[in-house]
Amino acid sequence: MSILAVDSPGAAPADRSSPRVASLSRFMAAREPGWHSQWAWDHYEDTIIALSRDLGLRRVCEIGGGRDPAFSADEAARNGFDLIVNDIDPGELALTPAGLETACFDITGDLSKAEVRPGSYDLMISRMVFEHLHDVRSAWGNIHTLLAPGGVALAFFPTLWAPVFALNHILPEKASRAIVHALFPARRDGGGDPKFPAIYDWCRGNPKILTPMLNEAGFDDIHVQPFWGHGYFDRMPGLKQADHAFNWLAARTGTTFFTTYAFVMVRKARD
Ligand SMILES: C[S@@+](CC[C@H](N)C(=O)[O-])C[C@H]1O[C@@H](n2cnc3c(N)ncnc32)[C@H](O)[C@@H]1O
Repeated sequence: MSILAVDSPGAAPADRSSPRVASLSRFMAAREPGWHSQWAWDHYEDTIIALSRDLGLRRVCEIGGGRDPAFSADEAARNGFDLIVNDIDPGELALTPAGLETACFDITGDLSKAEVRPGSYDLMISRMVFEHLHDVRSAWGNIHTLLAPGGVALAFFPTLWAPVFALNHILPEKASRAIVHALFPARRDGGGDPKFPAIYDWCRGNPKILTPMLNEAGFDDIHVQPFWGHGYFDRMPGLKQADHAFNWLAARTGTTFFTTYAFVMVRKARD
């Protein structure tokens, strides 16, 4: 059963090129997202599958997918789309699982110098990439160029000023790297999940901050889904409960200043 938010229940079905989803905000409301960021981690993939299915989006590009894209080639095929894995780093793309197409370019860079054509993709997705970009405004502009008319993008990233990410932002890279390596051994150099420097340019959970920039990039249908809470203190009893209470209160009061993560979703107009 589809979780569509439809323009009109009587609208002609079957035309997969028609904009059946009234707005990205209605699409997300129908998915009943939770306030805690665990919902975002648990539902990132199925939100993409639902977008692809409900809007007929077939050519999917994962920005900064590198060694760890969201889907294998089999999973993409099973769900009826092609996945092209982008990354700025050829070394990361060399680790992309077999069977997936790759595209090496800088999402913030000059696209005329990249081997990618405007309008190439129906859906562009990214997870834990935007916080590493030096120029997120240019990235959104490039996404607008690379999307086909009616195409959608979903970026999932951590946000300021959640205290845990504010600390990562303020501390020198060496210090924050040491803390992350101590808490998460898999993220040590040479481990399977390395830590990349975080910049947090435009990484906010407040739609009032993001919407004018996304309008300038060319988008009108915009949805910012804020999340609160995180798992960094899970192994620290006391701190974990205090932090959870803080995040619960921030979510209850809709305090977007303290979001920890966001899904930012945009749709390119058809003409
Ligand atoms: C933290 S990793 C995230 C990888 C994967 N998306 C995941 O969820 O595990 C960030 C990735 O973004 C890539 N990246 C950084 N800047 C980029 C840019 N300007 N354009 C494309 N990819 C970029 C990095 O090379 C790296 O593979």
